[in-house]
Amino acid sequence: MYEDRIRLARLRDKVMSAHDAASLFENGMTVGMSGFTRAGDCKAVPLALAERARHEPLQITLMTGASLGNDIDKVLSEANAISRRMPFQSDATLRRKINHGEVMFLDQHLSETVEQLRSGQLPSVDIAVIEATAITETGAIIPTTSVGNSASFAILARKVIVEINLKMPLGLEGLHDIFIPTYRPYRQPIPLISPEQRIGVPHIAIDPSKIAAIVITEKADSPSNVLPPDEETNAIAGHLDEFLRHEVKSGRLSPALQPLQSGIGTISNAVLHGFIDSPFQKLKMYSEVLQDSAIELIDSGKLEFASASSITLSRDTYDRVLANIEQYKPRLVLRPQEVSNHPEIIRRLGLITINTALECDIYGNINSTHVGGTHMMNGIGGSGDFARNAHLSVFVTKSTARYGAISSIVPMVTHVDHTEHDVDVIVTEHGLADLRGLAPRERAVQMIRHCVDPAYRPALQDYFHEACRHGGHTPHLLQQAFAWHTRYQQTGSML
Ligand code: COA
Repeated sequence: MYEDRIRLARLRDKVMSAHDAASLFENGMTVGMSGFTRAGDCKAVPLALAERARHEPLQITLMTGASLGNDIDKVLSEANAISRRMPFQSDATLRRKINHGEVMFLDQHLSETVEQLRSGQLPSVDIAVIEATAITETGAIIPTTSVGNSASFAILARKVIVEINLKMPLGLEGLHDIFIPTYRPYRQPIPLISPEQRIGVPHIAIDPSKIAAIVITEKADSPSNVLPPDEETNAIAGHLDEFLRHEVKSGRLSPALQPLQSGIGTISNAVLHGFIDSPFQKLKMYSEVLQDSAIELIDSGKLEFASASSITLSRDTYDRVLANIEQYKPRLVLRPQEVSNHPEIIRRLGLITINTALECDIYGNINSTHVGGTHMMNGIGGSGDFARNAHLSVFVTKSTARYGAISSIVPMVTHVDHTEHDVDVIVTEHGLADLRGLAPRERAVQMIRHCVDPAYRPALQDYFHEACRHGGHTPHLLQQAFAWHTRYQQTGSML
């Protein structure tokens, strides 16, 4: 029974239903689950847990790699099964509960969660639930389409439940590179000096006696929900392409650029897609998530190698990649997110990072998370890990949202995820502001000239002029700084 999937024979009698595995959870437990941007999440045990929570008091602290697919966060939230959640989410139902104050959400840099767990700064994991392709002869776990925080959750947890997903091809074995940094203060440098290098082992090695249950599933990851490129995202991609060509011409970058990181979402995916028609060659990625655009770049011959922590694809691309995994495997590696997002490596490799802003201000501060300064969207994700340590930190956004009622470029952002010190370039469909080497007053001129929608430009220009009259290194009119946001709340438009 499942000989190729559970190769350590004595573990085969641990196979049970999700319902039985769910009986292992107790109210108040801390649970670490696999799953990173809809890839490699557990598909049966969380639903059985939600079913229990509908009939009895059962709430957990839930940690994952990042967001989950298959409506797992939705179903758990509807069952009131989550009391605390970290480090990232993107589900509408959970978001509502977070913004109503019913779920305590810790919005963390994705590289930091297991670092804090390991050092006892977060409550220890009672049970880890990990999706696997197989369990090896030694009881080690072979992950599926993401690694995320799974390795450290499994290593640190008291008990482990493994969901073996028969949909995942056995060919996924060898895709992963599991390296866990040593404990501080005696930690050695992480020995990774190029994106394609392997520094660990292809499985998560744990004591097999910790495996308390094995559940068999057969369900695909949820497809990514990014929208196809449109006129505005194509324009953003075009501006960035032109800028990077100029950097190559000026000798600051080679035609292979520097390893690329691209954030999750429609805009980042579209921007990366734009590289297909660029003159850049022999590209490499060192990112946390690979979207369809990364696969298209590999197929087009532009991208030589991609390192990440998860693969989140549209249904067709997902089916094609899994069916041909042996062909893609030499060009891909999946790592724990504390390695894919590690500041030490990001700084060493000198990444060009491309992340999406919810709103930017005239000085280049970025809000990636809080609508109106108060309401959580998804979370900071890895954007802070990458932006702070990048060789070139780029943020992209459409210049307006909600059909023009919101300007994404505002006098002052209502929440700061990335300070002006972490932002080199901002791009909208109207143009690109190169903020490198500029003081705040100079940055504002570039932002207003290149990035703002024409409908908002005169008002922003007036704000800046008036603020400058009052002086300051970073001039502001404190009474008016959020007037655009309050106008939107009162009238439905910032205009
Ligand atoms: N004010 C209010 N809402 C705004 C807004 C603003 N200034 N700008 C955008 N939005 C809304 C859009 O209207 C849209 O809402 P809808 O889904 O209800 O239509 C939503 O935000 C998403 O915007 P969209 O333009 O579709 O961009 P996206 O899918 O690329 O997502 C972020 C943009 C910022 C939400 C997303 O990139 C994110 O969560 N980033 C933080 C995490 C991160 O950067 N990770 C990077 C490493 S993976």
